[in-house]
Amino acid sequence: LRTAALIVAAGSGSRSGRALPKQFEPLAGRPMLAHSYGALSRHPAVDRVLVVIGAGQERALAAILGEVPFVIGGATRRQSVANGLAALADMDRVLIHDAARPFVPPAVVDRLLAALDEAPGAIPVLPVADTLLHAGTAGTVAREPLRRVQTPQAFRLDAIRTAHATWTGPEPTDDAQMLRASGGEVALVEGDTMLDKVTYPADFAAAEARLDIRSR
Ligand code: C5P
Repeated sequence: LRTAALIVAAGSGSRSGRALPKQFEPLAGRPMLAHSYGALSRHPAVDRVLVVIGAGQERALAAILGEVPFVIGGATRRQSVANGLAALADMDRVLIHDAARPFVPPAVVDRLLAALDEAPGAIPVLPVADTLLHAGTAGTVAREPLRRVQTPQAFRLDAIRTAHATWTGPEPTDDAQMLRASGGEVALVEGDTMLDKVTYPADFAAAEARLDIRSR
């Protein structure tokens, strides 16, 4: 089975408080995008990595990674993923990953791809540690059955293409919800705090601290 990795990096990064989109900003000595690109490229089960960038980010990409395959994304994450999926030929499986999650543990990729033997989709999840409050009703939400969902998310390529093409709901925040809506089963595997997303300015330092602790 041939496996592609699709890294979506076409966001504007407007919440990060930085001049460049956050995926091009340095993190632990390298541009954020270089971390996940390197980890996915080096994974023995990944045959091809394709990056989705915003229009006008071509030079920033080349400055970081040189001449690597890329496609131009769209106005929403969903459109950016769809543009990437359309450009994948001769592949059976795809790992869809947010550039905003720089550190990809190889073991998570192993778990995801193993789960695809049984289901058309697989996602990394972690339990929720905080108490959760519904701000509208001021009611506490039972956290025990809840999971927080990370990327990479792994799919059989034909299944996720169909899910994207048939989605009619509001703008989704991940791809697995579209597969589920199209009737596809999504397996849950154990995620990793290393995969937590870098969104706000303080997240840069937190991500560097996670890497530092893990590499000791
Ligand atoms: O904005 P958010 O952090 O949810 O974006 C998640 C990922 O999707 C980021 O890696 C971002 O670069 C990417 N994205 C994209 N195209 C968009 C919006 C977001 O590739 N139009």
